[in-house]
Amino acid sequence: MDILALEKEYFLNVYKRFPAEIEKGEGAYLIDKQGNSYLDFLSGIAVNSLGHKHPSIIASLQKQIERNLHLSNYFVQDIQVDLAKKLLDLTPFSKAFLTNSGTEAIEGLLKLVRKWGNNKGKNEIIAFEGSFHGRSIGSLSITIQDKYQKNFTPLLPNIITVPFNKPDALKNALSKKTAAIFYEGITGEGGIHPVSDDIFSVMAEGRTKYDCLLIADEIQTGVGRTGKFYYYEYCPIIPDAVATAKGLGGGLPLGAFLVSDELTSVFDLGEHGTTFGGNPLACAAGYVVLQIVSDQNFLNNVEKNGLYLKQKLSEICDEFNDVTVERRGKGFMQGLELTKDAAKVMMEAFKQGLIINTAGDNTLRFLPPLIIEKTHIDEAYHKLIKTLRKVFYS
Ligand SMILES: Cc1ncc(COP(=O)(O)O)c(C=O)c1O
Repeated sequence: MDILALEKEYFLNVYKRFPAEIEKGEGAYLIDKQGNSYLDFLSGIAVNSLGHKHPSIIASLQKQIERNLHLSNYFVQDIQVDLAKKLLDLTPFSKAFLTNSGTEAIEGLLKLVRKWGNNKGKNEIIAFEGSFHGRSIGSLSITIQDKYQKNFTPLLPNIITVPFNKPDALKNALSKKTAAIFYEGITGEGGIHPVSDDIFSVMAEGRTKYDCLLIADEIQTGVGRTGKFYYYEYCPIIPDAVATAKGLGGGLPLGAFLVSDELTSVFDLGEHGTTFGGNPLACAAGYVVLQIVSDQNFLNNVEKNGLYLKQKLSEICDEFNDVTVERRGKGFMQGLELTKDAAKVMMEAFKQGLIINTAGDNTLRFLPPLIIEKTHIDEAYHKLIKTLRKVFYS
């Protein structure tokens, strides 16, 4: 039986998989068992930030394997301390909590917001339509998309839903009961929609007027993906806390939340914790990612090549204007909205040797590893053109 048939036999039917068995990854490519190679413009959904088999990550992991694989958070661990120090040096935040995943970072922040709000008589959280913050029940409660939430009620109470990029609606939703606003600077799963400056202005006013927290979900936008270390660096407000994960571990499961000075004493001893969060192997990979991505030359390169990707996608948008709507995004987080059939295009692109996926309504999503160069973008451009011709004009 082939492996896709075995997958059907052994696993819950929740994933739509690509029709291939990948043997290994190398740089910006995945190679299947038959030796076919695929240009990876998805990077494990924004996880393999330094591509596949990066020599510095491998060396760091090998060193850590010789020391220990897991100690538990009963022990302070130098690799965790190094990682947290680096994250805090790169940001205006004061303390970190390490997790295994994005959704756990959001859950931790929901708990922190709940306790902070309870002490001030605030019990409402604002979240935007089209957001995605994860699939555990707390994160799902602020993931305002029917396709993810339906069938899973009851969710958390007191979540106030606001339409995306509607400043007046946000103004109306804010009150002295608002404990926090959770937002993605650019929606990921929701289809690569950037939050408008008007919204940031209302958030800033709301924070001053009602004393609420602004919580940025940088799980997809963060760790260099848009050309700055965190996307909030492009925005007019600095959040009170951020959730980060995905690219942070460079392929290992690692997340974190970082909080501002005011929030460092919200949790008391024992009020939050995790068995695996901050696993030393994950931190060993994450520390290398931080060392490399925080280099200004590296970020400049992401910004420069991100502009080139944007230009090539805009060219495609113009050339295929009868089937495209618009290009959106920043750096290496780009979306190309089609009028129809994005899922079909994604599968045909795979056949052409280009890995991308879809997000929101009919939007193709491009999340290449941050190490790619112009030549990779040119290759993706040609493969995408071939794909669109095949799907729409043959
Ligand atoms: C913006 C955002 N937040 C949260 C999550 C959840 O992260 P994880 O899948 O690691 O739990 C994701 C995952 O796609 C995401 O894109």
